[in-house]
Amino acid sequence: MNPLAGRDVLAIPELSRSDIDLVLATAASFEQQLQGQRTIPLLDGYILCTLFYEPSTRTRLSFEAAMHRLQGRVISVAEITSSSVAKGESIDDTVRTIEQYADVIAMRHNEAGAAHIAAEAASIPVINGGDGSRNHPTQALLDLYTIQKERGAIDGQVIALVGDLKYGRTTHSLAEALARFRVEILMVSPPELSMPDHVTGALRQAGVAFEQTADIEEAVRRADVMYVTRIQRERFPTPAEYDRFRGVFHIDPPLVERSKPGVTIMHPLPRVDEISHEVDSYAGAAYFRQARNGVYVRMALLALVLGAI
Ligand code: NCD
Repeated sequence: MNPLAGRDVLAIPELSRSDIDLVLATAASFEQQLQGQRTIPLLDGYILCTLFYEPSTRTRLSFEAAMHRLQGRVISVAEITSSSVAKGESIDDTVRTIEQYADVIAMRHNEAGAAHIAAEAASIPVINGGDGSRNHPTQALLDLYTIQKERGAIDGQVIALVGDLKYGRTTHSLAEALARFRVEILMVSPPELSMPDHVTGALRQAGVAFEQTADIEEAVRRADVMYVTRIQRERFPTPAEYDRFRGVFHIDPPLVERSKPGVTIMHPLPRVDEISHEVDSYAGAAYFRQARNGVYVRMALLALVLGAI
């Protein structure tokens, strides 16, 4: 039995480096198998429930596509209006009900810690598709997979995390995941939107080389990978505070020109105005390939936690 069988996937710090390597290798194997066939008959008879309390396009659809590619079935509770679930009660009852119908849950919630509450209550594996501004572990795994594919390796890369590092859960989980490798991280944000202390503290403890700056030109000079993120409008206390920061960084063709040759540009999507559409035709613009990689990585996670491999 593989070491992830029966486990929840809630946050990167709960995964070991060998768990991460197993997910990446399994994803690569699925990607290769799908060159010659449309589906892989591994999860026939299994049911995934997607439980999304927050809007999602990529995460939910790629979980569902992943399940279908493995010949499993999907039931879905999409876009439920959020409630004060972090208090514990309704989410408990919801997942205890869902586990009567499904074998695994992929969930997203607007409150940090919600996936942990669900996992506590559920006897089936829970996979966190984003909890508030805290974690987004499956995105971090597909980001690692993308860096490895686009750059040939994760070790040795200089990776700039750009944008809203305070509220952007993808950057939190990715920084925690990169801490398992030998990389240099540049954190580029306005000082008011800098990476939370719990993430920088963990990186320091892990001995990871990182720097914090508000200067995008610093990243342009040094980064092999520019990981650009959206200012997380829905997490700001007031619209006026969001307006202070919207459009603060903008990746356009002249900026790409000034970057290291062959720089890889990533974005978890959706983008608002952080990357100009003219950049899309640049060969190193990897964000749609990154979205596709999400299917292979989520296939790997589903097959592993369900103990099918
Ligand atoms: C991200 C998210 O939901 O955190 N989207 C995604 O899952 N690809 C990023 C974002 O919303 O900015």
